[in-house]
Amino acid sequence: MVLGRAIRTPTHVIAHLSDPHLLADGTRLHGRIDTEAQLRAALHRVEMSGEQVDVLVLSGDLTDTADPAAYRLLRELVEPVAERLGAAVVWTGGNHDERRPLAQVLFGTDTDAPQDTATTVRGLRVIALDTAVPGRHDGGLSDAQFDWLARQLGASAAHGTILVMHHPPIVYRSPWMQLLDFREPGRLRDLLGTSDVRAILSGHLHVTSFGTLGTVPVFVAGGVSYVDDLGIPRERLMAIDGPQSWNLVEVHPDQVVGSVVPVAQHDTWPALSEQVTAYMATVPAGRRRTEFARKHSPPDVEAGQARAT
Ligand SMILES: [Fe+2]
Ligand SMILES: [Fe+2]
Repeated sequence: MVLGRAIRTPTHVIAHLSDPHLLADGTRLHGRIDTEAQLRAALHRVEMSGEQVDVLVLSGDLTDTADPAAYRLLRELVEPVAERLGAAVVWTGGNHDERRPLAQVLFGTDTDAPQDTATTVRGLRVIALDTAVPGRHDGGLSDAQFDWLARQLGASAAHGTILVMHHPPIVYRSPWMQLLDFREPGRLRDLLGTSDVRAILSGHLHVTSFGTLGTVPVFVAGGVSYVDDLGIPRERLMAIDGPQSWNLVEVHPDQVVGSVVPVAQHDTWPALSEQVTAYMATVPAGRRRTEFARKHSPPDVEAGQARAT
């Protein structure tokens, strides 16, 4: 019965952060942004959310200049949080990263090869594709990477697959960023075809954005370092110190839901009164929707009507 249906919780929770552009030497990004403080703040908000995070995703531009010390700082900041959360960490390179120092520090391998990974957590597979192209700021995958992905997707996972790639395979409004986009979205769309891929998580744009590749939703996290100003003509590219954010991605058996979480802690106040909360605790599960969703206050509650948000 619809009215008595249970409150749903996701099978898996992903905290998706992007574009920390870490600088390890205290230098401020663009002369303004304390990148270490921004990433610390974002990770703090992940922990304070109370979510049982299964996977902590960092989708590229992990560092600003590929300084090995910045990759070491990244591990220092991220790994203790992931450990406390009991979350797996999935990180991939962006155009500001460089393959060798990233591979050395994050994966312990001395190589210039792209670091594509597949991580499965309780049946949910997260495949990270390294779309950074050496010497360039636009993104792509080699034939070998497409082949690797096709082999991975040849077998499906119990809860399906989430793809992580720095360059989002969608059309973004900025003519400048379109010059730096993912080169072969059509090839990727065709490869995904009838695979078990349920969503793509990306960064690079420094704005929160959503789109589709074929039938697959694409969620772009807005960046924890700085954000591009969208309230200006598309020909201009201007950065702002806020509103930095990360995406809370909730995986259900039949859908994937993305929500934007601001990095900054703003002032808060109760949107639901204690009286309503106390009253609802007395309502049997089968009547909770009937009581809570109606516009007039329950008779036992004099103050603090349930607020429609
Ligand atoms: Fe970036
Ligand atoms: Fe980027």
